[in-house]
Amino acid sequence: MTRSKSAELFETAKSFFPGGVNSPVRAFKSVGGTPLFIEKGDGAHIWDADGNEFVDYCCSWGPLILGHNNPEVKQAIFSAVENGTSFGAPTRLENELAELILSNHKYIEKIRFVSSGTEAAMSAIRLARGVTGRDKIIKFEGCYHGHVDALLVKAGSGLATLGTSSSAGIPEAYVKETLVLPLNDREALEEAVKKYKDQIACIAIEPIPANNGLLIQDIEFLKYLRELTKREGIILLFDEVISGFRVGFEGAAGFYGIQPDVMAFGKIIGGGMPVGAYGASAEVMAHIAPEGPVYQAGTLSGNPVAMAAGAAQLRACLRPGFYEDLAAKTASLVDPIVAHAKTKGYDFNIFTRGSIFWLAFSDKIHIRSSQEIDPDSMKYFTVLHHELLQRGVYIGPSGYEVGFVSDAHTKEDIAHTVNAFCEALDVAFNQG
Ligand SMILES: Cc1ncc(COP(=O)(O)O)c(C=O)c1O
Repeated sequence: MTRSKSAELFETAKSFFPGGVNSPVRAFKSVGGTPLFIEKGDGAHIWDADGNEFVDYCCSWGPLILGHNNPEVKQAIFSAVENGTSFGAPTRLENELAELILSNHKYIEKIRFVSSGTEAAMSAIRLARGVTGRDKIIKFEGCYHGHVDALLVKAGSGLATLGTSSSAGIPEAYVKETLVLPLNDREALEEAVKKYKDQIACIAIEPIPANNGLLIQDIEFLKYLRELTKREGIILLFDEVISGFRVGFEGAAGFYGIQPDVMAFGKIIGGGMPVGAYGASAEVMAHIAPEGPVYQAGTLSGNPVAMAAGAAQLRACLRPGFYEDLAAKTASLVDPIVAHAKTKGYDFNIFTRGSIFWLAFSDKIHIRSSQEIDPDSMKYFTVLHHELLQRGVYIGPSGYEVGFVSDAHTKEDIAHTVNAFCEALDVAFNQG
């Protein structure tokens, strides 16, 4: 398999962009080699600049729950574009997407559209501070909420891969307002809340943490978080940028049956276009400008083309059995690979929640916090990633990232992937 055209494009890109990319994890730093430059995608497949074809489990890092180039989403985009691309004034399409969401999602009553998951999390934090009149926030190690200054304190994912625990350029004063606690640790939480009594505006969590491995939380911990925040007048923010519309239409809130105070969305909500959103009860959302004093705005917020794409995608997600089929398909991918690893005696497991999966080079049955991941185990991922590419399977280029199964993956795609995976695992465990 030649990748010379991708390599050439990457060299050119390096002269334009820092590290040759517009988002760090794309640079293949943790797996080595050069990133693939993608020419096109269709269904569950992508093609690189050299014409190589891959079954894709990155799915643009989650937004493409229907796969690439979905005909309904594409048609919705074309129809919207016919009428222009942006007005900076309200359009009917914003109402349509909002109605579709709010009438099928009982955990929020009002919503505000923004343009990315980062913006959604950032705005949700401001809302929490505005509602409570408090400054401090709590986040958890291993959860990522976008590159928001106050939240880029020991964040996971790309940062963990790069081996830094925070970013340069963030004022000490901001960092001081953010407490970072380990996941699944009630004592640490109790202690922090006691110490900073009446100062904490918000506790932010990915209820299904999926940016530093897939750290599936004990439901009792999530319930405890809900009780504690209610008791202390703290806003509980569920960052559902990944889990929202992914593990079910109502995301993790619906999956666990827990009502947060504020929710942040991104990825799937935009059908592959740049959309984020945050939502809450009508009472909490009344704090947002122009209704209330918390300012938040955006030139391209609620962009009509993006709204149309999001609505087309979410309509498909509402089809009966959609999420059940997706979870079953994911099991049909994961189960035979794990069985193969067990037969061979490899320390390997695949954790899943709905159609999210994560490869763990460990024999642990639960991994609930980032400290439980052995960084040394990533050497297996590096080999596996390379071997999968050679066999026409594309997964995100970091062992801390999760993969996604889409509605477009066919039985043949899954069968091809299972074979490729078993072979690639054999190589990884003999070389790694
Ligand atoms: C849970 C979570 N929150 C926020 C973000 C930031 O979203 P975006 O990359 O759209 O800014 C991400 C991105 O991966 C995410 O996974």
